[in-house]
Amino acid sequence: MTAAEYKRRRRTLCKSIGSGGLAILPAAREVIRNRDVHYPFRQHSDFSYVTGFPEPNAVAVFMPGRQDGEFILFCRPRDPEREQWDGERIGVEGATERFGADQAHPLTELDAIMPTLIDGCERLYYPIGTDADLDQQVMGWVNQVRAKTRTGAVAPDTFITIESLLHEQRLRKTRSELTQMRRAARISAQAHRRLMCHCSPGMKELDLEADFQHTCVTSGARFNAYQTIVGSGTNACVLHYIANDGVLRDGDLVLIDAGCEFDGYASDITRTFPVNGRFTAPQRELYDLVLKAQQAAIDNARPGHRWHEPHDAAVRVLTEGLIQLGILSGKVDQLIQDDAYKPYYMHRTGHWLGMDVHDVGTYQRDGQWRVFEPGMVLTVEPGLYLPDTDAVPASYRRIGIRIEDDVLITETGNDILSAAAPKHPDAIEALMAGHHLRVKS
Ligand code: GLY
Ligand code: MN
Ligand code: MN
Repeated sequence: MTAAEYKRRRRTLCKSIGSGGLAILPAAREVIRNRDVHYPFRQHSDFSYVTGFPEPNAVAVFMPGRQDGEFILFCRPRDPEREQWDGERIGVEGATERFGADQAHPLTELDAIMPTLIDGCERLYYPIGTDADLDQQVMGWVNQVRAKTRTGAVAPDTFITIESLLHEQRLRKTRSELTQMRRAARISAQAHRRLMCHCSPGMKELDLEADFQHTCVTSGARFNAYQTIVGSGTNACVLHYIANDGVLRDGDLVLIDAGCEFDGYASDITRTFPVNGRFTAPQRELYDLVLKAQQAAIDNARPGHRWHEPHDAAVRVLTEGLIQLGILSGKVDQLIQDDAYKPYYMHRTGHWLGMDVHDVGTYQRDGQWRVFEPGMVLTVEPGLYLPDTDAVPASYRRIGIRIEDDVLITETGNDILSAAAPKHPDAIEALMAGHHLRVKS
């Protein structure tokens, strides 16, 4: 991501904040895993979105229209002794020279400087209620200003969550963001393809997780966007199955929900395929139904359509299919109204996708589901999870199928960013048999 891109994002944010406003945005904290070991550090997406600054222990402040600069960054100073152990720090000089801050100060000066910046501001924006320590710290600064009002200080009287501005901005992806999202989806799609080629009965679910990870890491995406799900046989019916400690059995399907993060952007792809490379007739019947539901949902992910339409379309196809399979009986509309499909399809059909896998952005506006606009990215991920009960014909029991793609809303319709991961059953079988059949999906 270029410095110019971050500058544009800050300009947009500052415009939303407006003059008289001051925004405070903290970096993510380091989290201890055990004793001297930390969890891998992941910058907070909001902070990263407007600064690109990758270190912990930093706070960004934005003051639109301020004479001495609108973007002030507090961060860790250089420290040769610590850098000997942990690697180079950016420091205050690097914050201005490399990250476009108008001013930078050591984080230790935050408490001294913030009240002087807040004095005179009308509106204060920060992530209210997300971190009790931050709430207390910010209110401490505000109270210092309030205590001086008799000497002419002016404290803000309006407090607004910065997320309300930033998340609306993040919901519509810029051209550079879409380049990174395409890259993330392409790497994950390639990783799904490869593990399909390598899969065979007797392997472990963990082998496929490792295979996915290997392709992603060697393609430049070191971290996953979320924990990989590899559920074979009945494990596929557990929606967030992450134990991945089962053995892949001949005749079973395996569901893999896995996506890498590339340069801070997530991908989220699910494919379900036969461990031995050939669908059985009942597996294929169910698979075709989920694929048809997914296509119906994708057809409704277009500009002008509303958020609920893909889900409703998928639910209708699945309900009709469940009747045909003899699992439900009755009239489609009534069954949908009664949520009769829910024992077999208990989640929604997607979510926003971006820097976070379950990305920011509201789903409703003015009391209605929001309308799709070009630049929004969502997942479309219907599934069927058939339990071991009498209501389900024996040949369909204990099967879980989900098909998930990453879909960009375009001016004219949509673009499937994850299309390189095969999903048509003929294409999957051909790939697993070592042939490369081109099937339009
Ligand atoms: N992988 C999480 C999800 O599909 O929402
Ligand atoms: Mn998803
Ligand atoms: Mn997923």
